[in-house]
Amino acid sequence: MRILLYRGDGQVGAWAEDVAHALPGVATIGWQEGDTLPACDYAVLWNPSPALLAQLGTVKAVFLMGAGADAILKFGDALPPVPIVRLGDAGMARQMAEYVAYATLRYFRRFDEYEEQRRHGLWAPLPVYAREEFTVGVMGLGKLGLHVAATMRGFGFPVRGWSRTPKEVAGVDCFAGMDQLDDFLRGTRVLVSLLPLTAETSNLLDRRRLATLPRGAYLINVARGAQVAEPDLLALIRAGHIAGATLDVFRNEPLPAPHPFWDEPRITITPHISAVTLRADALRQIADKIAAFEAGQPVDDIVDRNLGY
Ligand code: NAP
Ligand code: GLV
Repeated sequence: MRILLYRGDGQVGAWAEDVAHALPGVATIGWQEGDTLPACDYAVLWNPSPALLAQLGTVKAVFLMGAGADAILKFGDALPPVPIVRLGDAGMARQMAEYVAYATLRYFRRFDEYEEQRRHGLWAPLPVYAREEFTVGVMGLGKLGLHVAATMRGFGFPVRGWSRTPKEVAGVDCFAGMDQLDDFLRGTRVLVSLLPLTAETSNLLDRRRLATLPRGAYLINVARGAQVAEPDLLALIRAGHIAGATLDVFRNEPLPAPHPFWDEPRITITPHISAVTLRADALRQIADKIAAFEAGQPVDDIVDRNLGY
């Protein structure tokens, strides 16, 4: 069996080494702009170029090295007519839960303010926030969102979730569809996005929707930057309606040096690391899915091109 390994950033060396452990006996091949792709069975890739996609029509499936499919689905009609399979959790849900728990507790326990006080040598206990007023609202109740919701429930916060289709999740107040979005936002103190980037979710968090959150709300975006209207978020933070944000993802990455977010102390910035792909976990999952394809069995996490995730 031959597998194409490709990353837009060129960093495939470590993947090739780990394929040898996860898929013994499988040959890996590389590809660069201008190459003609030799025959191969599967492709494992991230951020492909149109020239590569045009040559993938004969592989049995394309596996993504991440959970989000937006970077490949944007090619629309230029996509090869083969299944595209994303990572389903593969060690990311736990990382997401750690990140969201840290950002929520930092705000809830006022560590951000104590960090500032410490810079000024100030010893001044602040009032304690009421846990029951700290509803965590998770947008996206998929592989990652459900785990984050359960983790935040474990801390005793009221938790609500919003998804495209209606759900029943123990301990989570569930909302679904655009009709229920405003109600969901109105009662959310800490808003977490774990939505895929699709036509429906692009620019979803605009000025009006962010202003629907109660005064003092906090945003944690660990999904995709293009879901948030960045100037609107900044304006609402500066106006004091939104208390702050922890952002892992941005419309343009790396976040450009002159971007005003860098100068806003109420915005915590991380470089798209909230849930990194763990190669060994990812390749174990891909190996299992290849075995399922070869055996003609159902395969999880095939991307629905019509839905965009
Ligand atoms: P998933 O399992 O596909 O779950 C997606 C969830 O979003 C589902 O609950 C889905 O609703 C909901 N949804 C989709 N479109 C919606 C809409 N228009 N309105 C309301 N809800 C909608 O995805 P996942 O594995 O949890 O990953 C979520 C996203 O996290 C990825 O797409 C990626 O962008 C991001 N991510 C970021 C990082 C990072 O490091 N920053 C790492 C990994 C993933 P239904 O349940 O009704 O279908
Ligand atoms: C990372 O952002 C991913 O989608 O896996």
